Amino acid sequence: MSASEQVSNRVALVTGASYGIGAASALTLARDGYDIALADLREDMLADTAAKITAIGRRVALLTLDLRQQSSVEAAAAKAITSLGRLDVLVNNAGVPQRKPALDVTRDEWALVMDVNLAGTFFMTQAVARGWIVAGKPGSVVSVASTHGLVGLAQSTTYGVSKAGISHMTRMLAIEWAEHGIRVNAIAPASTETPTRTGLSDPNKRDTFLSRIPLHRFGTPQDMAEGIAYLAGDKAGFITGQTLVIDGGLTSQ
Ligand SMILES: NC(=O)c1ccc[n+]([C@@H]2O[C@H](COP(=O)([O-])OP(=O)(O)OC[C@H]3O[C@@H](n4cnc5c(N)ncnc54)[C@H](O)[C@@H]3O)[C@@H](O)[C@H]2O)c1
Repeated sequence: MSASEQVSNRVALVTGASYGIGAASALTLARDGYDIALADLREDMLADTAAKITAIGRRVALLTLDLRQQSSVEAAAAKAITSLGRLDVLVNNAGVPQRKPALDVTRDEWALVMDVNLAGTFFMTQAVARGWIVAGKPGSVVSVASTHGLVGLAQSTTYGVSKAGISHMTRMLAIEWAEHGIRVNAIAPASTETPTRTGLSDPNKRDTFLSRIPLHRFGTPQDMAEGIAYLAGDKAGFITGQTLVIDGGLTSQ
């Protein structure tokens, strides 16, 4: 069991749940008792995560989601409820990375990162929260920001600005929706070993990165999933508007 609590009859929607932090979060919430709506660009990408959740006895719904398309966002939010009967938690995990010198970033590259990471997270949250507010039900949102949105780093301006936006959006929405019983939080992971973080497989870069992390290891998807599951549940019932930094001490120096 995670740092959160066991629940029953609750449903969580996790975006970008095929692998990495999204898959670990979906599985951790399932172990805590949630049924899970898994969303990603294509349903077939979700088969592995879905099989693991089904194996521990929780119900699963598979949702096709492209955060760049408003119709897709609204359809996914609606299908989560029609498939599993209710929705209690939204985990905004899906995102796109970008590492590039600022001088080389094109308008299209900037727009893609902002469209998925910032607009996608906002409109996904809006669609789900609208349902909660109309139904008069409480809810909990946990988004995945980044330490790159908290401190400066070369070659990460576009991505970092998008993630800084998620942390500030989290504060803003937490205040606006507190009266509806909707909590809005985020986590900010440092470098986490997931399939798309190929930079971490270069031994020289690894050693350089590691030397900067006080706990002297990279984060794991499970480290991030524990923070997400805690913020999602009632044990964090008096926490809203926060970004929980999960970084082995990196940004505390
Ligand atoms: N891995 C890290 O080091 C790290 C560090 C800090 C923050 N993060 C953030 O954590 C989250 C998960 O990271 P990860 O490394 O596990 O995976 P990732 O960043 O490679 O991908 C996350 C998921 O987002 C999905 N996705 C991409 N574009 C989408 C779109 N338009 N619509 C719907 N889904 C889309 C992908 O298919 C994938 O399943 C991301 O938001 C990432 O920015 C990761």
